[in-house]
Amino acid sequence: MSPSRIAKVIGRRVWDSRGRPTVEAEVLLESGAWGRGMAPAGASRGRHEAVDLRDGGLSLGGFGVARAVANVNGPLALAIRGLDASDQKAVDAALIATDGTPDKSNLGGNALTALSMATLNAAAAHAGLPLWRYLAGEGPATLPMPEVQIFGGGAHAARRVDVQDFMAMPVGATSFEEALTFVAETYRAAGELMAAAGKKYGVADEGGFWPDFRSNEEALDMLLRAIEGAGLRPGDEMAISLDIAASEFGRDGRYSLALEDRVLDSGQMIEMLVGWLRRYPIVAIEDPLAEDDGDGMAAFTRAMGERVQIIGDDFLVTSAARVEAAAAAGQCNAVLVKVNQAGTITEAKAALDAGLAAGWNTIVSARSGETEDAIIAHLATGWNALQLKVGSFARSERMAKWNECLRIEESQGSTARFATGLRFGRARA
Ligand code: PGA
Ligand code: ZN
Repeated sequence: MSPSRIAKVIGRRVWDSRGRPTVEAEVLLESGAWGRGMAPAGASRGRHEAVDLRDGGLSLGGFGVARAVANVNGPLALAIRGLDASDQKAVDAALIATDGTPDKSNLGGNALTALSMATLNAAAAHAGLPLWRYLAGEGPATLPMPEVQIFGGGAHAARRVDVQDFMAMPVGATSFEEALTFVAETYRAAGELMAAAGKKYGVADEGGFWPDFRSNEEALDMLLRAIEGAGLRPGDEMAISLDIAASEFGRDGRYSLALEDRVLDSGQMIEMLVGWLRRYPIVAIEDPLAEDDGDGMAAFTRAMGERVQIIGDDFLVTSAARVEAAAAAGQCNAVLVKVNQAGTITEAKAALDAGLAAGWNTIVSARSGETEDAIIAHLATGWNALQLKVGSFARSERMAKWNECLRIEESQGSTARFATGLRFGRARA
């Protein structure tokens, strides 16, 4: 009998960073080792993501997770008890088979995500290793380049501006520690500029400043000024990354920019974005076109794919099959990896591997509804994703991830590796 066999599973309701209920799972092994997982939740979700099971009805806005928690404690616990936690693939396969649907809508993507993460943490604990090292094995483990939100918009700020994330990427930093210093100076400078402009009205869902702007370009200008105000060279030391999250305002080839009261077709949308890429030091752009606009995504990748990262989030929904199809169609050149979009660790890793096989950049990402769990810091490092997107530089559900990366870097001592010299827009070496 293997001592890493799963002895006990516990599911419970906890609360996420928006104050909504979410699923937490604990997996206890016969050896006494244990692990925990907490499901995050998106607000601007892709149509093809794994589906969270919510109770509906009037209480808690319909977001209740009583049924999902019951599924953890009932059928899912039954399915994985006795399995070897070190065999993540087998555990995830059992979770997937027990749910029985392609989108996890039967027992809940939230139930499966929490359990899959808990199993992984239990296996690392059983091995006596920090998770990042357990994942990397004997191989390298690289601290990721952070993408940090300075202004939050889109679905995370009542659609005050169309673009969802205006982010800073400390591309000139030579360590994770230095990267966060660059980010801290930029976030602070942005706050001072917003205060001086009489625009400092608190923060959006992921901790970026509330986007009180008249246009998307005004936000870009303010971000550029914040980088300069921080004493950093734009583009060289601190670059800009955008998540357009275009599926939120684009459908059937029509994009409604609410802020500017304009409707663009796919070609005009591309033209606007290309203009931004020419005027601002932007190195990465996520979901520039909507999830149903494959032709637009291919056209944009043809036009700009040599120069910038074109990241698929809602467009790829952490699906290996979708990554492979997009690579074949010349759409995107980078994949965002969110475990709960897929529903299990194994499927998320497969999507990341499909991106690597295509020669793409890979980014591990949080959700807008997060928890204090810092697992993504370990996934990004142990999987050598080379990039990590968490949200802003405020609110402790975000800082938990950044701070965990600092601890990992320190624990690596002189052997620490940081994702410097990222190449944008082309296959990496
Ligand atoms: P979500 O958005 O977590 O609200 O879906 C995050 C993103 O679009 O990257
Ligand atoms: Zn996104």
